[in-house]
Amino acid sequence: MPMSRGHQPRCVLVTGGAGFIGSNFLLRMVPRYPEVTFLNLDKLTYAGNLMNLRSIEHANNYAFVRGDVADMALMQSLFAQYHFDSIVHFAAESHVDRSIMAPVTFVHSNTVGTVTLLEAARQAWTSPQRHPNAYRFLHVSTDEVFGSLDLDAYFTRDTPYDPRSPYSASKAAADHFVRAYAHTYELPVVISNCSNNYGPYQFPEKLIPLVISRAVQGQAIPIYGKGANVRDWLHVEDHCDALDLILHRGIVGDTYLVGGNNERTNLDLVRLLLTLVDDRLGHAAGHSQQLITFVADRPGHDFRYAISAAHLQRTLGWQPRYSLESGLRQTVAWYLDHRDWLQQVIDRSYRDYFQAQYGIV
Ligand code: NAD
Ligand code: DAU
Repeated sequence: MPMSRGHQPRCVLVTGGAGFIGSNFLLRMVPRYPEVTFLNLDKLTYAGNLMNLRSIEHANNYAFVRGDVADMALMQSLFAQYHFDSIVHFAAESHVDRSIMAPVTFVHSNTVGTVTLLEAARQAWTSPQRHPNAYRFLHVSTDEVFGSLDLDAYFTRDTPYDPRSPYSASKAAADHFVRAYAHTYELPVVISNCSNNYGPYQFPEKLIPLVISRAVQGQAIPIYGKGANVRDWLHVEDHCDALDLILHRGIVGDTYLVGGNNERTNLDLVRLLLTLVDDRLGHAAGHSQQLITFVADRPGHDFRYAISAAHLQRTLGWQPRYSLESGLRQTVAWYLDHRDWLQQVIDRSYRDYFQAQYGIV
């Protein structure tokens, strides 16, 4: 059911809406809220793909502009033209391995881009404190800002920041600026920090689509180190459910941690995925397990992420709908049914990256 209380968006700027999570968010929100206008601002880096948005590209309440979120003149002109009352800010460089190879781009898009957007919103939303529910700046961030956990603790809203990769440092810096704008200028912000997402339209440099696409081709599947690192997986539709709730009902100034309580070591996850791929393709059990190839570890590889989403569940009533197995089954089926999509994104830019990262194609 569409939301009915709290903040009522009329015109939403969605940044990074051609990427993985942004596409899933727009595919959900544009048909669900026909009275709300959504403007998608995306630079269309290697990770942005307008093919994802075919089903909504002609909708009356949707428009697309190509541009850089760090371009202040563009941001100001978009605010002047559209009079946004809401921002859902996804745009970012998102891949940790790329941040290790080329950190400066991450500072530009993730940190400078966020500050530029905050500043454009501050200039446009004069006196937002007089109408606390009129405006909302939802900053979509990551659990990686909290660093790495040992085996039995969880990230909560009180966990101190401890980013350890160029990617997470650039996101942590952005989070700090968002809070600084709330404190100094009373900008009505809400922050979400989410765990590892998976699902349709994820670029196949990330572990889950990488494993599926390479298994289909019978190619080696790289596992960093011993595969003992732990991630907490959440289906992207469950993340988008949470963002819809947070946008409408999140308390200004609050932080919401989003996670599915689905921890797995990388090796266990990959084994499960390969079982599901073999099952779907009608291969004999164990057929694809031989593709697993242990490679050099990621420099500074965070050992474990695990989210406590108790605050989000208690205050906004959010619950994930997918179990890990049902979500992975749906995801495997989606990629196997969309091999043309996979082939197009691989052809566009993936081979060069894979060659640089692993020395193999
Ligand atoms: P993605 O890499 O798939 O998509 C990012 C999008 O942002 C792309 O469409 C790209 O073209 C666009 N973009 C990049 N730089 C830009 C710029 N300077 N100006 C305008 N557009 C730009 O990323 P994703 O996985 O969809 O992640 C979206 C957001 O969610 C990011 O902020 C990320 O930090 C956060 N997040 C991701 C995950 C995850 O598991 N993927 C988990 C938690 C939080
Ligand atoms: O926790 C949220 C974060 O999750 C998001 O903020 C990031 O944008 C997103 O990319 C993701 O970061 P990770 O580094 O955890 O995701 P990735 O899919 O790159 O890797 C998941 C785990 O798998 C990690 O421990 C590294 C490992 N890995 C990854 C790749 C690509 C491998 O073992 N082999 C691989 O080839």
